[in-house]
Amino acid sequence: MNPPDDAKWTWPPTFVWGVSMSAFQIEGATREDGRGPSVWDTYGASGRVANHDTGDVACDHYHRYPEDIALMRGLGVRAYRFSVAWSRVLPQGRGAANEAGLAFYDRLVDALLEAGIEPWLCLYHFDLPQALDDLGGWAVRDSAGWFADYATLVGRRYGDRVKRFATINEPSIFTLFGYALGGAAPDAADVSTLRRAIHNVNLAHGAAVDALRVLVPQASIGAIHNVQPCLPATPADTDAADLLGAYWNAAFPDPQCLGHYPSRLVEVMEPYVQAGDLARICRPLDWFGLNHYSPIYATANPNSPLGVTLGAGPSDISRTPIDWPTAPEALRETLHQVHNRYRLPIYVTENGLGSYDTPDAIGKITDTQRIEFLSAYIEAVRRAIAEGVDVRGYFVWSLLDNFEWASGYAVRFGLVHVDYPTQKRTPKASYFWYADLIKAATEASRVIPLARSGSGGLDLLR
Ligand code: FCB
Repeated sequence: MNPPDDAKWTWPPTFVWGVSMSAFQIEGATREDGRGPSVWDTYGASGRVANHDTGDVACDHYHRYPEDIALMRGLGVRAYRFSVAWSRVLPQGRGAANEAGLAFYDRLVDALLEAGIEPWLCLYHFDLPQALDDLGGWAVRDSAGWFADYATLVGRRYGDRVKRFATINEPSIFTLFGYALGGAAPDAADVSTLRRAIHNVNLAHGAAVDALRVLVPQASIGAIHNVQPCLPATPADTDAADLLGAYWNAAFPDPQCLGHYPSRLVEVMEPYVQAGDLARICRPLDWFGLNHYSPIYATANPNSPLGVTLGAGPSDISRTPIDWPTAPEALRETLHQVHNRYRLPIYVTENGLGSYDTPDAIGKITDTQRIEFLSAYIEAVRRAIAEGVDVRGYFVWSLLDNFEWASGYAVRFGLVHVDYPTQKRTPKASYFWYADLIKAATEASRVIPLARSGSGGLDLLR
């Protein structure tokens, strides 16, 4: 493919620059104002997170959201993707709503709109209400109805102000790790539970899309998937990589966008699929949210529930400080694949670098590696757009350092450093770099409007 003509190229004026975060990772206040526990409260309380960390305080965003929105304003982002904590608004997951919890997201949404930042509301980011897990959670078919009722509550409450909705963040990640590979709530290890959960989460997605369409007719609705190349750790692991790739990259987007399970999984999913289900799952979507960090490596492991586990991969490749392989070309290729397969506008809804940043003697955080990573990945996005892929936005994970699931607070993904004991926020070098990039990209696209039709027939001004 030809490289973009750099001299003439500018970012489309409508391109959405943003940041992403999620409720459990930042809010804290887990026992405040009537919030009910989620599976991640339970997982944290059991001491399974690194350093015995929990989400109890996290970034205290529940109280400090005005300061965090001011940081977003300083960055110049046009959009903020956040998630609603299901158990904050429905402490039991269903039944009586919690007015104090609902009011928190009113305040958040209103403050975002006042700051000129568009709220992108994701209904679910890993934090199933514990009360629902106690009833069987995603492994029972009723979960689709619970989720649709929750979506109805959220759409009805915020749909007057929020127009961008995502259903479920990375369904393949929380089902694979939560029900088979280990290392995430609810920490089951059983393949039939995994498959049941996959199908019910897919049904929940479809039901939520339907509910939102009725309640918020102008809504732009998407689904968010983690799509990353799944490679064999050794030549003997080719079949294992193919299997893991089917679960990781296709078990959700294929039924949601194409109306069928990937061929590798059709037979094993069949016992759970009832007449009409695939039509219930495959509801028209407005966009595809792509989360992407790095290629993954698979190792055949007959002793594991799935017969495959994550492998280390080659030692001679470039990696981030937390050991994730760095491969911006893989993002470009993934963008092409997602575009060709699903034919939806794409937003990169997560991308970023995890590290162990610490302030220097004068309190500065010079996270050069994050800047290099982000600039290489954003360049991959730019090239994909110039080659005809319909990418309409890019969101950095994350604005703040936050609770990185089983890794706790040790791993930091933020553009802004959080000193957890004091909750002091300190923008890192990458924060200023991203602010400059957004400014340059938006100013340039204002000056030279670009009318371009890419090879895929894409009109970037559309
Ligand atoms: C993604 C999750 C997000 C964050 C990043 C690093 O899988 O969606 O919550 O943990 O990884």
